Amino acid sequence: MMENSKQRIALLLVIFTLLKIGFSDEPIDKYLGKKYTMSTSENFDAVMKALGVSMWYRFLARVTTPQMVLSKSGDEYTLSLTSLVKNFVQKFKPGDTNTIMTPDGRTANSTITFDGNVLNEIESDLNGKVTKIKRTFNDTHLVIVLEVDKIIAIRTYKANKQ
Ligand SMILES: *[C@@H]1O[C@H](CO)[C@@H](O)[C@H](O)[C@H]1NC(C)=O
Ligand SMILES: *[C@@H]1O[C@H](CO)[C@@H](O)[C@H](O)[C@H]1NC(C)=O
Repeated sequence: MMENSKQRIALLLVIFTLLKIGFSDEPIDKYLGKKYTMSTSENFDAVMKALGVSMWYRFLARVTTPQMVLSKSGDEYTLSLTSLVKNFVQKFKPGDTNTIMTPDGRTANSTITFDGNVLNEIESDLNGKVTKIKRTFNDTHLVIVLEVDKIIAIRTYKANKQ
């Protein structure tokens, strides 16, 4: 009898944990592990200039085609940006503020939140520049809109063929 109720409690705990895991899934989790490769970029150089990014890095940004992947381990997400010249990894939990090194080498405080299939980031760097980055995921595309000082850049990525 005692053993039986203990087992029941254990079973309930397992079910409860499974439900909790189920509910903590974000809509954006649908796109985890999907690789996107950049296909078009508009006005990115102007945004980098406004941020004071070096000419050398801006040159590299012009000649490389990055790939982006969102992944998740436990409740921590990782945004990975890879290209022939640079690999950049950003780990975050939605809503937390982390001090990061941006891909172009600036120190900034970054906060990322989710809104459905959109990942919204606010980066505020040591020079007081605030960059808003909106990454919208779907099955075929990842569209990244960056805004600083009212200057807007749009970078479109296409999902790789599986
Ligand atoms: C990040 O936030 C901390 C705490 O508010 C602050 O001390 C630090 O100066 C900020 N760093 C940047 C790069 O803005
Ligand atoms: C995915 O995003 C691209 C780029 O914004 C858009 O053209 C396409 O219609 C979207 N696909 C769906 C299914 O919403």
